[in-house]
Amino acid sequence: MAAIENIGANQKNNNLNSDKTQQKNFHTDEVVRLDGVTFGYNGAPVLEDISLSVKAGDFLALIGPNGGAKSTLMKLMVGLLWPRIGEVRLFGMDVRHFYEWNRIGYVSQNAVRVNTGFPATVEEVVASGFYSGFGKLFDSARKREAVKRALDLTGIQALSRRLVGELSGGQLQKVFLAKALVKKPEALFLDEPTTGIDAASSREFYALLKELNLREGITVVVVTHDIGAAFDRAKKIGCVHGGKVYIHDNINEVTQEHIAEVLGFRIPELSAVFSKNREPETGMQQSCRPQIPT
Ligand SMILES: Nc1ncnc2c1ncn2[C@@H]1O[C@H](COP(=O)(O)OP(=O)(O)OP(=O)(O)O)[C@@H](O)[C@H]1O
Ligand SMILES: [Mg+2]
Repeated sequence: MAAIENIGANQKNNNLNSDKTQQKNFHTDEVVRLDGVTFGYNGAPVLEDISLSVKAGDFLALIGPNGGAKSTLMKLMVGLLWPRIGEVRLFGMDVRHFYEWNRIGYVSQNAVRVNTGFPATVEEVVASGFYSGFGKLFDSARKREAVKRALDLTGIQALSRRLVGELSGGQLQKVFLAKALVKKPEALFLDEPTTGIDAASSREFYALLKELNLREGITVVVVTHDIGAAFDRAKKIGCVHGGKVYIHDNINEVTQEHIAEVLGFRIPELSAVFSKNREPETGMQQSCRPQIPT
């Protein structure tokens, strides 16, 4: 995991106590769960009273306007931020006490903005995914095998000896995905992994995520502005706007009107995705609504 930011800043205000959380209704197939989470940086909250649950095997795409708090939500999910009010649980454990970081892979929104001028090969960058948490327990033979597997899964074996500074944006995104996969996580959290890459590479990247989700059983949570890819590949859509998160468990219930409500504009290209995957729209069915975890 990357360095933990802001941890403990709001600890005193947290309204949890461990006895109470022990009694909460936790499903063992839950990867991450938020209950009544409110979070703000300095003044007003940017997320307010959020409750949601991501189950093992889910492929959840989080969409919303710039500044809507998608990255904040993802940082709360992976323990980089702690909520002022409410509770976040990873694999059933309060995120403040969670330690099995090898079970999740996270790629931040800024990952590809790192300086790629240093002379590191793809293989070395992927292997650097071990340098935190439980990675140190892997012996070098197992590390080599795991790096090879991550390169295979992401289809970049042929690039393994190349310098990262020589790669295209789309290739570099796959390198960071491979780095996140190297510890064989059960869940991947990716914040805008296809920003700045062309439409074809973006489609290929989401197809790869879908394969990891279906074939490897890896839970995927992805923040994206690529709405077409999100609807084509994800199983669930989460709309993050106005301090709230609205989860659509059934992707087929989402209409052009929902998108317009969240983003402020319609996306004509979505009609092609919608007509491929579902019956014709019958108009506005249900407005975006918060998910109430069971
Ligand atoms: N470290 C920070 N300190 C203070 N305010 C912050 C910080 N990070 C984010 N914010 C504010 O919180 C709000 C939500 O930001 P966030 O980055 O979560 O949005 P986002 O939905 O990911 O946006 P984008 O689509 O542009 O990436 C914004 O108003 C932003 O200015
Ligand atoms: Mg963001």
